[in-house]
Amino acid sequence: MGKSGRKSKVSQRQRRILHGVGDDALPSSAYDIPEDLEVRGRRADGEEEEEDGSGSGDADLVENETSMGALSKFDLYQQSVQSPKGDISYLQKFFLMYVGGRRPLHLQEDFCGTALLCSEWLHSDPRRTAVGLDLDLEALNWCLENNISKFGYDGHSRISLFHGNVLHPHKAHMVKPKVQDRIGAIDLNNPKDSMGTPQSITDANPRVRVCSTMEETSLPSRDVVCAFNYSCCCLHQREDLVKYFKHALSVLSKKGGIFVMDLYGGISSERKLRLQRKFSNFTYIWEQGEFDIISRRTRISLHFHLGKKFTFRHAFSYDWRLWSLTEIKDCLEEAGFQSIHFWIREMPNTEDENLEYDADSDVKYEELSSFGQQDAWNAYVVGVANL
Ligand SMILES: C[S@@+](CC[C@H](N)C(=O)[O-])C[C@H]1O[C@@H](n2cnc3c(N)ncnc32)[C@H](O)[C@@H]1O
Repeated sequence: MGKSGRKSKVSQRQRRILHGVGDDALPSSAYDIPEDLEVRGRRADGEEEEEDGSGSGDADLVENETSMGALSKFDLYQQSVQSPKGDISYLQKFFLMYVGGRRPLHLQEDFCGTALLCSEWLHSDPRRTAVGLDLDLEALNWCLENNISKFGYDGHSRISLFHGNVLHPHKAHMVKPKVQDRIGAIDLNNPKDSMGTPQSITDANPRVRVCSTMEETSLPSRDVVCAFNYSCCCLHQREDLVKYFKHALSVLSKKGGIFVMDLYGGISSERKLRLQRKFSNFTYIWEQGEFDIISRRTRISLHFHLGKKFTFRHAFSYDWRLWSLTEIKDCLEEAGFQSIHFWIREMPNTEDENLEYDADSDVKYEELSSFGQQDAWNAYVVGVANL
């Protein structure tokens, strides 16, 4: 990625798909570059910028920091990695295909990070609600301040963000911005919010209040539960994966619902690899460490290089077990899902200078039961609960 002259047919087709029927918009993934940013990656004169070398140069290195002045690593991540409109198009398509009969209104985004998908979900229909769950309180707080605040009260009333582990979701605590204290008329001797929910302000982050647990909170059953950007790879044990899938199944509507996750793979995923993409004001770098063929573990680091000034090295780091599609299917079935579907697309070859696809092959996800190994592929896995 990122080499001069690689503004390939792939990109043109991706762009065509994005502008096509809504359902075919591209989803997010660490490999995908949202179309608007791809355009911003060009210089004003229409030429592509040259590929960066190792990236850091004489830049200030910022290791494991959240922000540098006004720049936030979460903002850079959302801009370069995520494409929630595309994901939502596919979620709607899957729901209509495998459940149908109603419009999906209630979403749970597990491993939500800054819950950008939840925000976009709320934006797409005023009746929609969203639940986000993540271990990272900093990311949840950033979401409240940056993604949800623009909706005002309406946004806060339709989203519930929980801080906790997907393996113990009932114990996860709701987080709310502290600023709501002023709205909620709180008795500090008996702190409950306007909904009667017990709450406290966390020592770890004085800007957010930690309120009731998920177990104590009344939430609508979900039409869709999702885990995107390969987040299930954060779970390393099979029994944890099955446990997590059981939790996901348990919150789905009795009228039927879907669980959707994504996965990447291919020959290039099982070796060291560095991919980068230049935008007008920063370069996004995906760095894959050694791949252990016994544990199937690899370390992924995301870096953001901002011109000659700063580099957010290891802005995000993940220790992943790269599950196979078969393992995921087996675990979803064991957890109780009735049917499992694979939607796969080939990704640009990481070693191909020209990144050309066959003239007739549109780059979109297709439901498949068999797919020959490629250099790189991306998949949605859909677990259907028709209860
Ligand atoms: C690859 S990021 C994905 C973020 C977001 N879903 C996206 O689409 O970009 C993985 C996220 O999972 C969270 N995470 C990892 N293990 C978790 C766990 N056991 N329970 C809850 N969140 C977890 C991390 O804090 C991180 O925000």
